[in-house]
Amino acid sequence: MSSLVRTTTQDGVVIIAVDNPPVNALSIGVPDGIMDALTAGADDPAIGAFVLLGAGRTFIAGADIREFGRPRPPGAKTIFDLIAALEASPKPVVAAIHGTALGGGLEVALACHWRVGVKGSQYGLPEVKLGILPGAGGTQRLPRLTGVEAAAKLIVSGDFVPVDKALALGIVDAVVEGDLAEAGAAFARQVVAERRPLRRVRDMNDRLAVPDGFFEGMRKSIARSGRGQVAPWRCIDCVEAAATLPFDEGIRRERALFEECLASPQSKALRHFFFAEREVGKIPDVPKDTPVQAVARAAIIGAGTMGGGIAMNFASAGIPVTLVETAADALERGLATIRANYARTVASGRLPQAAMDKAMAQLTGTLDLAAVADADIVIEAVFEDMGVKKDLFARLDAIAKPDAILATNTSTLDVDEIASATKRPEKVIGTHFFSPANVMKLLEVVRGARTDRTTIASTMALAKPLKKVAVLVGVCDGFVGNRMLAGYMRQALFLLEEGALPQDVDRAIQDFGFAMGPFAMMDLAGNDVEWRIRKHREKTSPRPSNQRFSRLPDLICEEGRFGQKTGAGWYRYEPGDRTPHPDPAIAALIVEEARASGITRRAIPAEEIVQRCLLPLINEGARILDEGLALRPGDIDVIWVYGYGFPSWKGGPMFHADQIGLPEVLAQLRRLEAEQGSFWTPSPLIVRLAESGQGFASLKAG
Ligand code: 3HC
Repeated sequence: MSSLVRTTTQDGVVIIAVDNPPVNALSIGVPDGIMDALTAGADDPAIGAFVLLGAGRTFIAGADIREFGRPRPPGAKTIFDLIAALEASPKPVVAAIHGTALGGGLEVALACHWRVGVKGSQYGLPEVKLGILPGAGGTQRLPRLTGVEAAAKLIVSGDFVPVDKALALGIVDAVVEGDLAEAGAAFARQVVAERRPLRRVRDMNDRLAVPDGFFEGMRKSIARSGRGQVAPWRCIDCVEAAATLPFDEGIRRERALFEECLASPQSKALRHFFFAEREVGKIPDVPKDTPVQAVARAAIIGAGTMGGGIAMNFASAGIPVTLVETAADALERGLATIRANYARTVASGRLPQAAMDKAMAQLTGTLDLAAVADADIVIEAVFEDMGVKKDLFARLDAIAKPDAILATNTSTLDVDEIASATKRPEKVIGTHFFSPANVMKLLEVVRGARTDRTTIASTMALAKPLKKVAVLVGVCDGFVGNRMLAGYMRQALFLLEEGALPQDVDRAIQDFGFAMGPFAMMDLAGNDVEWRIRKHREKTSPRPSNQRFSRLPDLICEEGRFGQKTGAGWYRYEPGDRTPHPDPAIAALIVEEARASGITRRAIPAEEIVQRCLLPLINEGARILDEGLALRPGDIDVIWVYGYGFPSWKGGPMFHADQIGLPEVLAQLRRLEAEQGSFWTPSPLIVRLAESGQGFASLKAG
């Protein structure tokens, strides 16, 4: 028997426990172990049934993603062998589920004759999120249990459902309580006692009818939500096969499309991203056992857009939070915005009213800074001005608990200088939320020169309850994300002067897969925000006079075109509508500015637009790695996917660079450097890696 599977016998029932931490993935050896147990039990007249369950924290969370594309030892059994064996077992097999039954794990459960789940268990076929589809019968069996419509939605979205919903859908046959093995065995004994015929999902064909136009409707919705991605289309092809073909033919189709998806660049990118997202929490000098301070209470300074959004994160997580403002009207406005944001989510059906009430009950507004005294973390989200922030931090230092974490949401200022205003620089850290802060998943955690390990570990740990993905970065201008953004935006503006219009650039970038192009993004964020920062920078660190720069963003701000909020920016907007409309006034402004700068405009192909915008990202990302300001290339990828809408199915900018090949990236940078000068000078890291035939993936953390 495989060491990954253990068996015990309880009163005529063999309990087969998969014991492959952390998530009981179906690694090499697991199918063999389960199949050996089935064979042994089948031959034993004292055995009436089997229960399959997971040891530790969960049922089986799927195939072992790390093994994809790797050779298997000769003779090792596969998930397909296992599923055939389970379904063909002459004695009943009951899957007893806790934790998560996901992907191949759920597919294994669907091959059992019955399924029972405990409270809190969750069910899903999330393969689409890895750029593949459920390839072990999931697309053929799930529709037979739940009906085609429900299955199609689950498979195309990859969403999980809780056990009560799984029961209603027919995925599980019962919700059980108490000890899982005992409850599973009791269910199995009942099946045996009642001499129930074995229930094989493959034979259940009475739920396969679909309303007219169902698949067409699904495909239309994929065209909207799965833009650029291949796997959702293949998923729906498979579900359609389930509804229209005999079971075995459907399985053959599923397997062929699974293999196609598995070999696709999109799946490779999404699997990279899956692991990159899980790596970000691993910090070489902040080991897992670093003590973590509990955050039972938070305070946010500033009830503006960012402060309010940050406060909502805590309130939604059930952490009491005090919102501090200096003026009563600003506080009232901030609280009203929060209430309106929650109310909108309730109205859209995505949040129950009770959850809104619970969240609002966590929130207190005050004009008294002394109220931060009982907070475990204080997050400052006030005006971006070093003087203002230093003054505030000195006051916070005097009021807050001695070990409270003092965090700044600055996106541009030096965290170390802010920390110097306190007597506790080791407890000062940056928490750079992205706007809208209650929606965006990214949190850049900025480590100052003196921030201590406990503060880092505690702030990183906070990401989980806040439902964020935290990435640790170092102190530099713009930190990681915005520092990279600067070069991307610069080229987008130069492209306008050279011949493109905002809609050309945005279309090319969106067709590449970004959620939004740079100009639509600026209009959303508000053009005045950067304008203010630029003006401040011109005073503190003036630009070299011989360096090319575009006046276009200043010109549109001077006309009051701040973006969506003013009904005009790089585009024009109809009242109450966020749809960007190309604006002839902007085209005229751009043409005039190019003429004034002596630039001859030309037609610029989409491919060149993408190259000009992405190369600066890659080049700056490489500099950031060289300077040790991000731990891994994958951390940068996570920042760009969750903070800036880079397509996850292209893996992030650094992964994408490796797919282009660093020698090619280097050649492109050198060509542009020769044509246009020093903005394109390749980073030393790219030169080193390209010349030694390596990619970013070869770099180790730190
Ligand atoms: N294969 C290999 N490793 C896996 C894994 C898998 N399927 N699922 C999780 N892990 C690893 C993670 O990389 C992580 O490793 P680390 O500790 O070394 O970083 C560890 O397990 C714990 O994972 P999380 O940090 O994500 O733990 P959580 O408790 O937050 O979440 C989970 C647990 C919900 C199971 C989540 O890990 C998850 O969603 N896993 C992926 C599930 C999935 O996609 N299954 C389908 C796989 S493809 C398949 O089955 C193909 C089939 O159709 C043929």
